[in-house]
Amino acid sequence: MKSNSTQDVTLNPEKLPFHLAIIMDGNGRWAKKRLMNRVKGHEQGSQTVRSIVTAARELGIGVLTLYAFSTENWARPKLEVKALMMLLKKFIISEREKLSKNHIRLNIIGQKHRLPPDVQKEIDITMALTKNNDKMVLNLALSYGSREEITNAVKQIVQKIESKDLNPEDISQDLISNHLYTKAIPDPDLIIRTSGEYRLSNFLLWQAAYSEIYITDTLWPDFSKDEFIEILNNFQNRDRRFGKVSCSISKDG
Ligand code: FPP
Repeated sequence: MKSNSTQDVTLNPEKLPFHLAIIMDGNGRWAKKRLMNRVKGHEQGSQTVRSIVTAARELGIGVLTLYAFSTENWARPKLEVKALMMLLKKFIISEREKLSKNHIRLNIIGQKHRLPPDVQKEIDITMALTKNNDKMVLNLALSYGSREEITNAVKQIVQKIESKDLNPEDISQDLISNHLYTKAIPDPDLIIRTSGEYRLSNFLLWQAAYSEIYITDTLWPDFSKDEFIEILNNFQNRDRRFGKVSCSISKDG
């Protein structure tokens, strides 16, 4: 049962997820429940992004990946896509100084080249400004789709084989990982999905092989720091076995 307060929760800084990824879902339903336009849900969702980025940095998360726009989202109504791009641009500009001051590096995974040129420009400015920051990476998944990412990796690997820069025998799991958008980033330890949907929606499919998954019914605009801490506490009590037996069993047996 959910407690009303996180006052009793003490997180162990050594057992935090290094890489935390979030599928931010439910903006549209949040707005619909209030008889508002879907865009209002995205606006409120942007506020949640601000508070969760701050909380993640304060808590000591190493990498925070947010699924902000998928390759499939291009098929949404033109006005909604336009509004999402505007919110994104606003966020990148308004948070620039704060990211910088808090030593957070902005990184993008996905088809950055498909974003409107003005959004790309603001992203480039913020990425350049924050490139040496080393306390946390804010990794925004934009025009991101895992199948496209893997297809892209396969194409790069085939090209290297054709140009004799790579031997087929040298293809390994590490080599494939190193051709993904996430190449310099360890796989996510924990993936949170809001709004009660039980699917990955083309998000980090290769990287999620051993990620812990937490689904909450909360709609993204309502997602709070308190619930975030509760989820991290739940993660700290999980037994991650990576396909092996648990430490306690192997010691006893
Ligand atoms: C899913 O809700 C959410 C998105 C497709 C976009 C996420 C965008 C934001 C949180 C705001 C802008 C982002 C940043 C980084 C400032 P949905 O529309 O699919 O909700 P529904 O399933 O209830 O319809």
